[in-house]
Amino acid sequence: MTTRVVRLDPLKPDRSVLEEAAEVLRKGGLVAFPTETVYGLGADAFSRTAVLRVYEVKRRPLDNPVIVHVSRLEMLGDVAEDVPQYVLRALERSWPGPLTVVVRRRPSLPKEVSGGLDTVAVRMPGHPVALGLIEALGKPIAAPSANLSGRPSPTRAEHVVEDLWGSVEMILDAGPTFFGVESTVVDVTRDPPLLLRPGPIGVEELEKVLGKGVDVPDWARGLEGPPERAPSPGVRYRHYAPRTTLVLVELRPDGLQGLVRRVMNVVREELKKGRRVAVIASRETAEAYKSLGIKVVVLGARENLFEVARNLFEVLRLIDGLEVDVAIAEGFEEISIGLAIMNRLRKASSVIV
Ligand code: TXA
Ligand code: MG
Repeated sequence: MTTRVVRLDPLKPDRSVLEEAAEVLRKGGLVAFPTETVYGLGADAFSRTAVLRVYEVKRRPLDNPVIVHVSRLEMLGDVAEDVPQYVLRALERSWPGPLTVVVRRRPSLPKEVSGGLDTVAVRMPGHPVALGLIEALGKPIAAPSANLSGRPSPTRAEHVVEDLWGSVEMILDAGPTFFGVESTVVDVTRDPPLLLRPGPIGVEELEKVLGKGVDVPDWARGLEGPPERAPSPGVRYRHYAPRTTLVLVELRPDGLQGLVRRVMNVVREELKKGRRVAVIASRETAEAYKSLGIKVVVLGARENLFEVARNLFEVLRLIDGLEVDVAIAEGFEEISIGLAIMNRLRKASSVIV
């Protein structure tokens, strides 16, 4: 299949291109498009065959449900039912934005969207291209991240091209995405609500928006293997992992100095074994490793965790090209978007120290 890549202005997308893309979706085709978090791989949410194709081209297990994207709050009622009042009020305030809620699925929405579950994950993306595409179709769009299953989510159209070239009809390229990590996912069919995946909306903010305490299980932090019957199938699968061994050195009470010291120790041990080493560091600490004569990749500044998040997946994609045997990543504080960063880093690494 030939894939068309079309460039679009992220803020003022060309209406005729959005119309063309919507026509592709109407015919059962797949269109990759930018959101404010990562690029999504879109299909008409009400077309069973199109949705099944999404799983197929991503090589995604059929029991791992995808997110439904809406452009207006009223559209929520087309795909979901029994949404609690307090949730509706919260969504009125925080949509569009990087917040996904898991609610009861309306039976008329194909169950394949939800991997067979009777719930559905829904969000309203805050990106003019995504919103314009949903509006042009006039229906909700089912869209997981536009990467091959297990690979880091795409934050640029080039990443989508790497993973899905030749297997989708169209890729809308509007440049790099804003947040760089996927949306916060919260299950509001439970009381208290349960955090399924940390994202740009931090737990503190989420609790404020919902007006309720939220449960944050250890597996949502990426700290332990998920339970046998995890409420979110996505957490059962290994994610984001580069082929190169990734060692994560956690931030501990010994602070930033202690962290640098512990990273240095791991580097020296690896060098002694004759391995080629790279460190994935922060702007504040990068200088310390230069004396070791190894490659240093800077994710961003600790004082701006949003910058770190924005660069994270691109760096995880780049590790395998560094020609090293082991990459050692520094940990970050679990506040705000930092929890999302640590969840992704823990899932991507093979060793955590
Ligand atoms: O930012 C995002 O959320 C991006 C953009 C494209 O919107 N989308 C995204 O979708 O990350 P995906 O499919 O890669 O991740 C969806 C996550 C998975 O972990 C999945 O298991 C979980 O949400 N999920 C989806 N529906 C669910 C449901 N009904 N119950 C529990 N978890 C669900
Ligand atoms: Mg994904």
